[in-house]
Formats: sequence, structure tokens, C-alpha cells
Amino acid sequence: MCGIIGYIGFRKAPSVLIKCLKRLDYRGYDSAGIGVIDEKLQVFKDVGEIANLEKKVPIDKGTLGIGHTRWATHGKVTKENAHPHVCNNKKIALVHNGIIENFKTLREDLERKGYKFTSQTDTEVIVHLIDESYNGNLEDAVFSALKKIQGSYALAVVHEDEPGKLVGARRESPLVIGIGDNENFLASDIPAILSYTNRAVYLEDGELCSLTAQSISVFDDTKKKIEREETIIDWDIKDAEKSGFPHFMLKEIYEQPNAIYQTLQGRVFEREQSILFPERVEKLLTADFDSIHIVSCGTSFYAGWVGKYLIERLTGIPVIMELASEFRYFGVKKGSSLVIAVTQSGETADTLAAIRAGKNAGCQTLVVSNVIGSTATRIADGFVLTQSGPEVGVAATKTFTSQILVLFLIALKLAVLRNRIGLNEVYKYILELKALPKQLRQVLDRSEEIVEIANRIKGATSVFYIGRGVNYPLSLEGALKLKEISYIHAEGFAAGELKHGPFALLTEDTPVVAIATKDATYAKVLANIGEVQARGPPVIAVADDKDTEIEKHADFVIRFPSNGGLLSCIPIAVILQLLAYHVANLRGCSIDKPRNLAKSVTVE
Ligand code: G6P
Repeated sequence: MCGIIGYIGFRKAPSVLIKCLKRLDYRGYDSAGIGVIDEKLQVFKDVGEIANLEKKVPIDKGTLGIGHTRWATHGKVTKENAHPHVCNNKKIALVHNGIIENFKTLREDLERKGYKFTSQTDTEVIVHLIDESYNGNLEDAVFSALKKIQGSYALAVVHEDEPGKLVGARRESPLVIGIGDNENFLASDIPAILSYTNRAVYLEDGELCSLTAQSISVFDDTKKKIEREETIIDWDIKDAEKSGFPHFMLKEIYEQPNAIYQTLQGRVFEREQSILFPERVEKLLTADFDSIHIVSCGTSFYAGWVGKYLIERLTGIPVIMELASEFRYFGVKKGSSLVIAVTQSGETADTLAAIRAGKNAGCQTLVVSNVIGSTATRIADGFVLTQSGPEVGVAATKTFTSQILVLFLIALKLAVLRNRIGLNEVYKYILELKALPKQLRQVLDRSEEIVEIANRIKGATSVFYIGRGVNYPLSLEGALKLKEISYIHAEGFAAGELKHGPFALLTEDTPVVAIATKDATYAKVLANIGEVQARGPPVIAVADDKDTEIEKHADFVIRFPSNGGLLSCIPIAVILQLLAYHVANLRGCSIDKPRNLAKSVTVE
């Protein structure tokens, strides 16, 4: 969804900008550009990956600059539409993430005044507006330009005549200031600057900042200077590197035993048989709500849906699943509901709007996110971090399982608070939780078996996933993973629904992945597998180690270690991730950066 970067300091800006952009490219990768002030403003841009741009930047001079990696919204993928955009006298350069909703009117107005446009983007109006207001002070000009803009933005701006100043601003799109020694940064996201600093200052909506190499100043939308505390980010730069894995996605799949361990840290206490959250979260969970709305998008939506089953099962509280993009317009119910927003990045535009809609309707809001300081964690009434470390691969993996885990902990806490379960039961679940990292290592050790099955389905044009109960949203997530990285059409279904339509699409070339756990629905799922086989397609069952029957029913079986409990969903999710990964790898796909997708979708 576009990544932006800004640098001011003592290093060679082009190298710093390119390095940081490479860490931001999961936000968009159709074109990229940088603008550097080395006495004169110089701008370089190109379509394609950042490596293309890198080859075409002829200089490594100047200590002030801005950069951008694009995920097109307005205007095709062309060099002209790539950022930075410059004003007509070529003194101001600007990069932008977001959408300017009134850009057409602004553009017509500026054109009437004689401004020449060189791109089809919504962004270009901002740089001309800044130019129009410029009177020797860049902050003032940006302030006046922003007053005329409707929509969302995170932006970084430089002016050739003010070579010691980098200006940034945000509204509804993420922007963070990175603080160094005699250097400062602006970035869409922390991993971009982690190799230079772990000291961050987050901007709030409507704020503007002005950086020099030695100072940062933050202003609210009335130009009043405000003090903002630093946050120290405890992520390690190694977490944001591939460390010998061919893809971030595979590395992140393999990080799951540790991610799960980290997610449990400081929350699960075996001896005391208790689950502990920060005071604000405990207060939210203790409140007297009679239902829960879970709002989210994409993979986080499916994690939320798994969470629905877990919460309802343990607490009896009704949970309503709402796609954030729908909830923001249609879903708000007045009354006593707790709204839980699940969002890896904490920056997904629809999810943020859903949180705001929940608040406006008088609901308390709780966020489950992986990114401390993200907008979602700041606007909600409370937040729980998934603590799984930075996730770079566009296809979410470790954050999916950590989100499920956090929702499970929330379910356990609520069940205790509402006297639905006793301490013995809590203890039993805590033991299940603690067994998870080992179980995941066992799943990962079976990766080769999964490669063999991947080999059999890599040529399919369509793959179906089926499951019942909690395995239904897992089927949806399995299908989503496969389609997003391998480009094979895949769909997930509640196992009982195949006969109500999807059967019409089944052929011998449509492999069906069936999740069969030894629960109350097991016999029904076996019957569904039989119905599928009667029509010819191969069935790949995902089944429990102790299941002695499944081989008689399925063509292939992938096993997961199980204790028969509620948490089997986590090892199963890892199997589905590995299956998707290996299929995509065998097909030679661009796994970490699938076509047309971006990790963080900060536009509606
Ligand atoms: C994008 C990503 C998905 C992610 C979804 C929601 O579509 O490609 O992987 O699940 O956004 O993102 P969030 O950060 O809110 O979890």
C-alpha cells in the first residue's frame, strides 16, 4: 500500500533510502523512486522492483532525501506515476501513501492557475499545493496545503532551498519518526529503519513533523508544538532478515514455535493457573457486555473466525464475525458489545474505520495486533500484542497462529471471569498451550512429506479445502494462502456445503484438502470425504497422529501431533501454510511478493 521513507543526517542519503525501501517493499512493489538534495534536488525513479531503481541511481551524495515504493491506486504503473513528485520549478519533492479524495477538483483548479501536471496520480496535487503556498518556510506551506486536502496521507517532503529540513505529516496512513544520533528518519513502518535505530516517535492523525539531523519537532493541526515520548522497539534487525531461508514466508513459518512461545510470555502462569493481561485489557474484559463483534480483514479475519469458535465454546458469549470493510458501513449495533479488532499491521484502513465505527456506537474496543504503536493500538480502548516479531512475507503466517493464540487466551480469561471454567480446567489448557511449540516443531520436521503432496497438486487448476466447526475458517485460510502465493484457484467450504453447489465444479483434477479432527463432527467429515471421492478427485486429509481410520478414506494423509484439544487448529494451520508454500515454490512463484497484493492495505 506504498511505503515511504525520509532521511536527514550524515550518511549518503541514496544508499540509506534504497536500503530502507528494500525493507518496505512488502507494502508495494510496482515502481519506486528517491529524491535527494545534493545542492540541487535530484529525482530518480523507475518501474519494477527497487533493485531496478538501485541500478539507475548514478550518485551516492547528499545527506537529505525521501523515497517511495508504490502500490498503484490512481494512475497506471509508469515511471511518470512513480514517486517522488516534484513541483514545476523542480525545487520541492514529495512522497505520499494514501488517497486524496478531492484530487480531481484540486487538479482542475491548479491547472486553471497554470500548474502543469506530469502524472495521473492523486498525489501530484499535494506538491503543487505546497508550491502554491510556499513562502520561504516548508512547514507552513505543508500546513496550508493539507488544509485543502480530503482523504488519507502519510507524506515526506523536501525543498531544495531548505537543505537542512525534512517535513512529514500523516492522517489515516502510518508514519513513524526514527531517532538516531545526528540523523533522523521518517518511515511507514519500523522494520524499514531497524538497522539504524530502534527509537521511534509515532505521529497521530493530523500531526506534522519537522526534522533536522539533530532535532525533531511535532505539531498538531493548529500548528501548536507538542511533546511526544519516544518508544523503544524491542525487535531485532535479524528478525527482519531472511537468515538463510529462500523466502521470508518460509522463515516466518519456521519461526512459529518461537513466536508461539513469545506470545505466551508474561501472560500464562502455570503455577498460579492464571492468564494475565495489562490492567486496561483486564478492565475491558471484566465489563458487562453481552456479545462480541470481531472485525478484521483477510487472514486476520479467519484468525478472528477461529477465535469465534474458541470464545463461544469456552464462554458461551455470542461472537459475531464482521468483515471490517462491511462493519464500518453496516455492522454497528448500539448496545453492549465488545468490539475486538484483529490486525497484524494495526494499519489496515478498513479495520481502523471499523474500530472508529465501534467507538462511535458506544462500544468498547480491543485490538489484537503485532505492531506496538500502530494506529489501531493507539485508537482502541486497549490492545494485546501478538509478540511474534516483524512479519515481512506478504502472506501472513506466524501472526495468524499468534492471533489465534491471543484470542484463545482472551477466551480463557473471559471463561474464568464469568465462572465458566474452574482452575483445573485452566491448568489443563495451560499445559496444552505449553505443548504447542514442540508440536509445531514436529509438524515442521514433516515438511518433506508435504513437498511430495505439493508435487501432486502443483498442476491443479483448482483446489478445494473443507472442514467443519473451527476447521471451516481454517479451510478458508488454507485456500486463501494457496491462491495468494501460487495463483491456483482455491476455495474453502464448510464440509457439509459441497453438495449445495460446489460439487458442480468438482472434477478428477480438483484435489480436495479435508481437515478431519477427532471431534464430534469426525464421522460427518468422513462421509463428506466419501461423497467427494465418489466423484473422482483425490482427497488429501489433514488428520491427527492417533487417527487409525483415515487412511482407509483418503488418498493422502498429512498428520499433525494432537492432544485432541481445542488447539489442534494451530498445528493444522502450519500444515496448510507449508502446503501452500511448497506448491508455490514448485511453481516458481514470487512467494514473498505475490502479484497485485500488499502486506498492509492502508487504503479503503
Ligand atoms: C492484506 C494482507 C493480508 C492481511 C490483510 C489484513 O490483505 O495481504 O495478509 O491478512 O491485509 O491485514 P492486517 O494487517 O489488518 O492483519
